[in-house]
Amino acid sequence: MTTSHLYVRYRVDLERPFPNEEELVRQIVGAMERANRQVAAKHRHGLRDAHAKSHGILAGELRIEPDLPEHLAQGLFAAPHSYPVIVRFSTSPGDLRSDQVPVQRGLAIKVIGVNGPRAIEDGATTQDILLVNHPTLPFGTIGEYAELQKLLERQPRQSDLRQRLTRLGARVAARVLACLGRPRPPVLELLATANHHILGETFHSMAALRYGDHVAKISAAPRSEDLRALIGRPVDTRAGDSALRDLVTNFFTRHSAEYELRAQLCVDVDRMPIEDASVLWPEELSPHHRVAVLHLPAQDPYSDARRRYADDVLSFSPWHTLEAHRPLGSIMRSRRVAYPRSSGFRHTVNGVQEREPSSIDELPA
Ligand code: HEM
Repeated sequence: MTTSHLYVRYRVDLERPFPNEEELVRQIVGAMERANRQVAAKHRHGLRDAHAKSHGILAGELRIEPDLPEHLAQGLFAAPHSYPVIVRFSTSPGDLRSDQVPVQRGLAIKVIGVNGPRAIEDGATTQDILLVNHPTLPFGTIGEYAELQKLLERQPRQSDLRQRLTRLGARVAARVLACLGRPRPPVLELLATANHHILGETFHSMAALRYGDHVAKISAAPRSEDLRALIGRPVDTRAGDSALRDLVTNFFTRHSAEYELRAQLCVDVDRMPIEDASVLWPEELSPHHRVAVLHLPAQDPYSDARRRYADDVLSFSPWHTLEAHRPLGSIMRSRRVAYPRSSGFRHTVNGVQEREPSSIDELPA
């Protein structure tokens, strides 16, 4: 007997426009552009407007699990297959900060050679999966996101040291609130990140996406023993501003790594909302299921040629996707405008042609 009736079926009207959505997206993208221009002037080089700093760029394989049940065998995951991938590890700000500042880290996966109807007709055959090491986006609608941006724009630019101190204070405050059994306000959640080895982190889509006939959030968790040994390992405070690049390079010189890619299917649109990415989808309602394994062999993950290719030529976007994995909710819709704008700006400033790869051979050694 099939259990797929338990899972919410994807329908266009699961998405609801946010009040004043177009104007809010315009504001968000406008604020990003202003920040982007300032950072480009500082470095005399165009950077990503978010996740500007890379820590490792790897070639690998995404191996879709065999024998998935019908509700999980959807879209990219419909049949067992091994796809080549390019992976980029990053840090969230749109500027080059010291790796000693504990901020959110990213894992972007570009799956190559994926065929099928696209969410946007871009002529590409890539499926990008963008993940961050936190399960929710504390400002989970574009209304809240626009408010956060206004707040940030009014703040003077903080030094790395000031940022480290602010975040230390936030972690102490978060611990006190936890002891008192009180909830953390979203700002605190954003600031109270610990600085752990990037490879031991679990990364999340934070927001929902279409999962073929259903709706899901996606995550990637360490699977191989060598990776699991890095979970929660603090970054050495004496390891310098490029500590994460050094950790990634040291690891992959000798080790391979495996992450499991998991889908958490929506079973209840009220308790697992699509339009508000700040709500944690309860695992008791719907657990995370492994749908693929991301295999990354030992290699040199940070040659100059790779850094230039991944930072300056490539763009990752949740909208580089099959229709079967269309991003859902107001935050995701805002990204449809924000990513091409940021990518277009840096490619123009740097005089570099943007190219979506059709073969793994395009990734330099
Ligand atoms: C659901 C929450 C989000 C996740 C999981 C996420 C994740 C990521 C990741 C991993 C990257 C780096 C990709 C790479 O390595 O090239 C990235 C880049 C970026 N993100 Fe997000 N992001 C989220 C929300 C947003 C929002 C709400 C915006 C703005 C509306 C945004 C704007 C950007 C921009 C502009 C870039 C750089 C694009 C480029 O120049 O190529 N992100 N994001």
